[in-house]
Amino acid sequence: MSNSSIPLFLLLLVLCIISASADPYYENSDYKSSSSYTTSRSDTVFSLQVPTLDETTFDNLLSFGYYRKTCPQFESILHNKVKEWIKEDYTLAASLMRLHFHDCSVRGCDGSILLKNDGSERTAKVSKTLRGFEVVDDIKAELEKQCPKTVSCADILTAAARDATFEVGGPYWDVPYGRRDGKVSLAEEAALVPTGHENITSMIEFFQSRGMTVLDLVALSGAHTIGRTSCGSIQYRLYNYKGTGKPDPSLDPKYLDFLQRKCRWASEYVDLDATTPKTFDNVYYINLKKKKGLLSTDQLLYSDPRTAPLVSAFTSTHSVFQHQFAVSMGKLGLVDVLTDQDEEGEIRTNCNFVNAY
Ligand code: HEM
Ligand SMILES: *[C@@H]1O[C@H](CO)[C@@H](O)[C@H](O)[C@H]1NC(C)=O
Repeated sequence: MSNSSIPLFLLLLVLCIISASADPYYENSDYKSSSSYTTSRSDTVFSLQVPTLDETTFDNLLSFGYYRKTCPQFESILHNKVKEWIKEDYTLAASLMRLHFHDCSVRGCDGSILLKNDGSERTAKVSKTLRGFEVVDDIKAELEKQCPKTVSCADILTAAARDATFEVGGPYWDVPYGRRDGKVSLAEEAALVPTGHENITSMIEFFQSRGMTVLDLVALSGAHTIGRTSCGSIQYRLYNYKGTGKPDPSLDPKYLDFLQRKCRWASEYVDLDATTPKTFDNVYYINLKKKKGLLSTDQLLYSDPRTAPLVSAFTSTHSVFQHQFAVSMGKLGLVDVLTDQDEEGEIRTNCNFVNAY
């Protein structure tokens, strides 16, 4: 590791510590206690207190108590549904987290990924392996019975990603609500979401253009501690990498051998975390140190002086990763949200379609 990265490392460690003490909404890890739905914090208007250089890009119009009067059962309905679905198929947890990332990455967290009209984000090539739509639909259907026309699809997806994370052993964080659903969804915009072939600079720029930092990039990439990829998206690393006629040299030889046997067919699936694929832990980062990152965008995080120190920081302490993941997911959920103040938003009655009225 180059010397020049050391001051950055220290700075970012300090940032981690500051954010650990300044963050008001991450202390509620006792999700099971029913009081977590009714704490006094749910009355306060949300204001972002994690350290960031560009706080002004976030709306402060969401609030923890948003549905308290209109749909107090929202979070418990959602929690039960997410829990049921994941019990039936644990792979849905990863899929819900990814779905939320793709939603927020394009036009902000506005539920635009859920729309099914011709040429929508959902029809784009990068969206082909997205899953979890039926979970959102199921939650929405129940909410329409209990609190019609009240809870947005964008809020449902944001909260579902949080509950899914918690269900598989990840951290818990409180989500402020009041997002409205967008009416515009374009496949060509979805094409901008990273596919795993990018360089670090373009990933950093992608995050920064959404008000997120390098720290958020490294922390949120840790979502790849669970979930899978289709072999098709990594086969180029296995045989003829960048026209060299050889595999990607940044792959551990034994892991390469495993992947060559596992990925004979592009349609096969392979775990993103080679070591503990079902557990939400910091082993994803430990894998990177051992040249066992599956996507090249994962492995690159440990090769670049802007990101490698953060990878190291997350390998050393599990709790630092868990905490930062919660903080960064909180930020992801605020990207370009539509609120009551925005005329272009609505509360969809069916998450798949813009309201007809
Ligand atoms: C930083 C840039 C990122 C890149 C390049 C990237 C790329 C990918 C790719 C290529 C896949 C496999 C898709 C497939 O073949 O089916 C994937 C899966 C996944 N991604 Fe990412 N991702 C990124 C960031 C994120 C973020 C920020 C999150 C969540 C906060 C996330 C969560 C996931 C999850 C959970 C899966 C597994 C999905 C499943 O098993 O259904 N990713 N990602
Ligand atoms: C990174 O990727 C972008 C977009 O493809 C490209 O324009 C840029 O030249 C690349 N940078 C490096 C350092 O390779």
